[in-house]
Amino acid sequence: MSTVWENNGDAPLSEEPERLVSADYTDDDLEIDRTLRPRCLDEYLGQERVKENLGVLIEATRARDEPLDHILLSGPPGLGKTTLANVIGNELGVKVKTTSGPAIERAGDLAAILSNLEERDVLFIDEIHRLNRVVEEVLYPAMEDFTIDIIIGKGPAARSLRLDLPHFTLVGATTRTGLLTGPLRDRFGMAFRLDYYTPDELASIVKRSARILDVEIHDDGAAEIARRSRGTPRLANRLLKRVRDYAQVRHDGKITEDISAEALAFFEVDHMGLDKMDLAILNTLVSTFSGRPVGLNTLAAAVGEETDTLEDVYEPYLLQLGFLSRTPKGRQATPRAYEHLGLSVPAADKPQGGLF
Ligand SMILES: Nc1ncnc2c1ncn2[C@@H]1O[C@H](COP(=O)(O)OP(=O)(O)OP(=O)(O)O)[C@@H](O)[C@H]1O
Ligand SMILES: [Mg+2]
Repeated sequence: MSTVWENNGDAPLSEEPERLVSADYTDDDLEIDRTLRPRCLDEYLGQERVKENLGVLIEATRARDEPLDHILLSGPPGLGKTTLANVIGNELGVKVKTTSGPAIERAGDLAAILSNLEERDVLFIDEIHRLNRVVEEVLYPAMEDFTIDIIIGKGPAARSLRLDLPHFTLVGATTRTGLLTGPLRDRFGMAFRLDYYTPDELASIVKRSARILDVEIHDDGAAEIARRSRGTPRLANRLLKRVRDYAQVRHDGKITEDISAEALAFFEVDHMGLDKMDLAILNTLVSTFSGRPVGLNTLAAAVGEETDTLEDVYEPYLLQLGFLSRTPKGRQATPRAYEHLGLSVPAADKPQGGLF
């Protein structure tokens, strides 16, 4: 089997390792999306409970020939919310129009989007927790009664006009359910939370992607990438592409377990999927702050990362691994984090300092 070399032009082996984990959407992701994004529920691997529920819902609404209820998808970045919104549209056989919370600045923008929808269309609003209040209030009657009130004219001559909208399905996505207002959350018929994927599920995703990219990969090689992908398909696909480049340049293109491990060490992703930023966070907690609880903003400043990125991307995975705990006084490294760093755990009440 031949290996396809797709990113001629780039210098693949000099990529900054931080970008592998970051939540930022890169040019590479655009290419990954075009080629690897699942289009139907069968291709969407993992998230079995969500898929099962959605499958039933979709089948029932199709049988009744009704529009699907509005659906809220939540979960950390890169777990497949945008993908799932498009899968829903494909399964329903309707068009998906995509926008995002911050992109809809005024009520008029939303009115224009809504009145251009066709019957049964899916309107996907990404980052829906970032809608402003004025826009959100226009969305309520649109979701509930498929109507909007628009104001025509200004001052004393202004009149309100009620417009009927097509029966659309709103799919909202958010990385932070906590930031959604109660009234908005209540207007969704169903809410699904996407969880981190298991290593087995990720290995299946890596193998599917390798097949599409025409890369030869051993089961063990896929499992090694899966283990280091922090439960996230976007990262699994990014790592696969980097490992593919490495295997091509340093070996014969085939991805075995050893080559995966060697390549990922080269890109500074450790055996649990932690990258330089994760390790900087843990080291800062245990050494700079001597194991004391640290506020999120202080921690972000100390490691030179944005607070939002720390909270959305790095923290959830460190919490999930049990390396970090959130205390009322701030973030604190756990004994497991000390072990991972190869350090001895400090006595409970004795501040630890000068570890390095
Ligand atoms: N269940 C899945 N099966 C196979 N591949 C998947 C799955 N979920 C996601 N992917 C892959 O991971 C990539 C990232 O997924 P997606 O863009 O949908 O994540 P997201 O949750 O919308 O992230 P963000 O919060 O950053 O917008 C997709 O391009 C797709 O190739
Ligand atoms: Mg998305």
